[in-house]
Amino acid sequence: MIPGRQTRCWLAMSACLLAAATRAAPPSGEQLYDIACLSCHSLGDAADHRVGPPLGGLLNRKAAMVKDYRYSEALSASGWSWTLPTLLAWLSDPDTAIPNNAMNYVNPLTAGETQRLGEWLLQQP
Ligand code: HEC
Repeated sequence: MIPGRQTRCWLAMSACLLAAATRAAPPSGEQLYDIACLSCHSLGDAADHRVGPPLGGLLNRKAAMVKDYRYSEALSASGWSWTLPTLLAWLSDPDTAIPNNAMNYVNPLTAGETQRLGEWLLQQP
């Protein structure tokens, strides 16, 4: 039993169940996105603003640039742009990365899963 595993299970029961069910083939970046992000973020340039802004075309995009989405001041003033290192820092711990941001999210994924998800997400148009 890996310490902390149980805590993560509480945070993302579905991610743990999926991980257990597919131990031979770990969940793909897309599956991880569906589990951890889709409830708040759409893809593509859909004006479908959920709780969070749409995440299509994220690679090299400046932070807080989706039109008509009301970002926090913290994210707007961050000066960040989205590449794999910034995305991984953001997802691992949003509150440390950019204090006072409005993404109310605790990452339930392992570092490897987060990396796979991030690599997949940055390829989406
Ligand atoms: C509970 C809802 C929620 C979940 C779940 C969530 N986010 Fe977010 N996300 C937000 C909100 C709200 C913002 C806007 C934050 C702000 O304005 O400070 C945001 C902002 C972002 C941004 C910045 C976008 C931009 O235009 O600059 C990225 C990148 C991002 N989220 C990625 C993710 C990824 C990847 C996941 C899944 C691992 C995820 N988020 C899960 C709510 C969520």
